[in-house]
Amino acid sequence: MSEGAGVTVYRTIGTPALRHLDPFLMLDYFGSDDPDKYIAGFPDHPHRGFVTLTYMLDGHMLHQDSMGNRGDLRSGGAQWMKAASGVIHSEMPQQSEGLMRGFQLWINLPASEKMTDPVYQEITPEAIPVVESAGLRVQLLSGHYGGKEGPIADPHTHVQYLDVSIDAGHRFSHHLATNMTSFLFVFEGAVRCSGTSLSHHSLAVLGSGASVEITAADRAARLIFVAGLPLKEPIVQHGPFVMTTHHEIEQAVSDYRNNRLVQKKARFARR
Ligand code: FE2
Repeated sequence: MSEGAGVTVYRTIGTPALRHLDPFLMLDYFGSDDPDKYIAGFPDHPHRGFVTLTYMLDGHMLHQDSMGNRGDLRSGGAQWMKAASGVIHSEMPQQSEGLMRGFQLWINLPASEKMTDPVYQEITPEAIPVVESAGLRVQLLSGHYGGKEGPIADPHTHVQYLDVSIDAGHRFSHHLATNMTSFLFVFEGAVRCSGTSLSHHSLAVLGSGASVEITAADRAARLIFVAGLPLKEPIVQHGPFVMTTHHEIEQAVSDYRNNRLVQKKARFARR
């Protein structure tokens, strides 16, 4: 589908087939070396009530918000943005050719956090630990894995976010916590996941309380594995506003129309 001013994204979570996957509200994958599919970017737009986590695999984007914050997203880096009570920002490509590839994940916030002040965490590629074993390379954005801790602190939903590269003929085994929602998205090659074949651009929603075995057969594969704590609260969504009641949505729309959506300057942390 087309998002922003005309950027082609592949949406899995946040479609009629999978409206939400508590605590996840949306997953967009963008990947193209055709500038016509990304050059228009995402000009000024609002968010309220949730977190966006952007992971830039390839390319260069500039983030700017209405409160004067600026952030560079480069290949291998990430940004965790708690929009909370309100952010109006743009996300614009800083390249006119070449590959632009990455993910944007929307993570819901508990009702008690939705109207708090916005916060950013900007993560440089160097800050992301890599855990390597035979035929396997795991980059750890958030949560714990292999005795290491990712640089993104996600205090409300405790997201574990792994970028997993599997060589041909190798396997990634991972425990699925009983209290977490888990999914994976394959973006290079294809895998067998506990007996099911997954081609690239496939999302698999995983069960819990067991372990998952993901095998790359005849060629290498790469995927993201993401887990998060479900909030089990009502979700009322109107585009980029996600609250728990219709009244709060009406308030968000009215605040946006009346220039009151942005209430506080965000705190900014760079790692
Ligand atoms: Fe945005």
